Amino acid sequence: MSRIILRTLRTLTLCSLLGGIAPAGNSAEATMLPAVTTSEKEARLAWWREARVGIFIHWGLYAIPARGEWVQWNEQIPNEEYARLAEQFRPTQFDATAWAATFKAAGAKYAVLTARHHDGFALFDDPGNEFTSVTTAAHRDLVAEYVQAIRGAGLRVGLYYSPLDWRFPGYICPDIQLASAEAMRTQYHRQMKELLSNYGKIDILWFDGGETDWLSFSGEWNGSKWEKRPSAKPYHGRFSWRHDEMYSVLRRLQPDVLINGRADMPEDFRSREGDGALGDFDSVRPWELCTTIVNGPWGWKPDAPIKTLHYLVTMLVKAVGRDGNYMLNVGPRPDGQIDPPQAERLRELGAWLGKNGESIYATRGGPFPPGDYGVSTHRGSAVYVHVLQWSGSVLELPALPAKVLRATRLDGGGVSFEQDQHRLKLTVPPGARDAIDTIIKLEIDRPAAGIATIETGK
Ligand code: GLC
Repeated sequence: MSRIILRTLRTLTLCSLLGGIAPAGNSAEATMLPAVTTSEKEARLAWWREARVGIFIHWGLYAIPARGEWVQWNEQIPNEEYARLAEQFRPTQFDATAWAATFKAAGAKYAVLTARHHDGFALFDDPGNEFTSVTTAAHRDLVAEYVQAIRGAGLRVGLYYSPLDWRFPGYICPDIQLASAEAMRTQYHRQMKELLSNYGKIDILWFDGGETDWLSFSGEWNGSKWEKRPSAKPYHGRFSWRHDEMYSVLRRLQPDVLINGRADMPEDFRSREGDGALGDFDSVRPWELCTTIVNGPWGWKPDAPIKTLHYLVTMLVKAVGRDGNYMLNVGPRPDGQIDPPQAERLRELGAWLGKNGESIYATRGGPFPPGDYGVSTHRGSAVYVHVLQWSGSVLELPALPAKVLRATRLDGGGVSFEQDQHRLKLTVPPGARDAIDTIIKLEIDRPAAGIATIETGK
């Protein structure tokens, strides 16, 4: 067993011992934050709700070893050794305008770039820290180039930021290494101010690793797998991220920025992570499913198989039909290029959205609940039934409390329908069904938004 793992194990054991006896400190932190009214939040969220599709980008030094963005932690690579990757990071093929064109062609309305992941390497200028793309071999402020190009392409600009930084031992057990944890917090507050002051308007701040319970985690060793503290054992130590202070600065600098729910701050939307976290329909608490274009990590891994268009469209449709957004991740190569087969898949997705976007963008999920057949979306006085899977010759949906005036397929063909007070029956002959998603547009006699999501009783 390597020295680092041994050291980590020892720290973890000590952490778990101290976890129970450390004096209560910041448990009230979340409650000290200003309350956000629902209408304020809904106003901020209006564009995001309509956007529906975003692109996530995980890019940093970890693209060089190409074994995922967790490579340093998983392989317990010492900081000094990992830091040497910065001298090889020369993204000669990075062209932010080409990225932005690809994302736009994918049908995305926003993008979120890892300005700094857990490894601590900043893709932006931070005068308080040497571990950046500006001070090392790349000599470029990659965030600046990205922001300008994304904005220029008419997309909304998002930044991912991890308050947690593996280079500070205090992240793992702040009560034993309080000074280190506090230095990490100083960096977090400073870098946040830089990101929110120097790059114009930022539309999304996508936190990761900023929850208090990521600190001083349970102390139970589980291979090298990172584990959040179990909810029954919240952190009660002396360290605080001072998220309340950060939150007021953040709202002052960028009043409209949207924040996900991973930093113990009043959140604008929640993150559901990975295809397995698709979850249930929820039109009350705004949420986004983020997932990868490959079967593999978020960061670049050359042999990770790309998901099929069929699969990606199905996930997108299922998320939107559950009233969520869909953010698809790409991990560019170390030279800055999005691998051509991935870029090609993005364009295919965009071509699908180009034809079927009417049933995705600016829609809300429902009123039919998701089921084995697929999902539904609506906007104006149209309901879109997305049939992902047919069982039998007719699709039977529960009664719709509105009169269907017309039923057509989005690809132009016809649909026969029968409506009574118990059900709505839709028939599309097998030969006319789409291999991925047969989209049936129902024009109804009233605004669909007024119809509550229909219960199926199951
Ligand atoms: C996880 C991982 C991280 C990734 C993120 C995306 O929290 O720590 O590597 O950035 O998910 O949702």
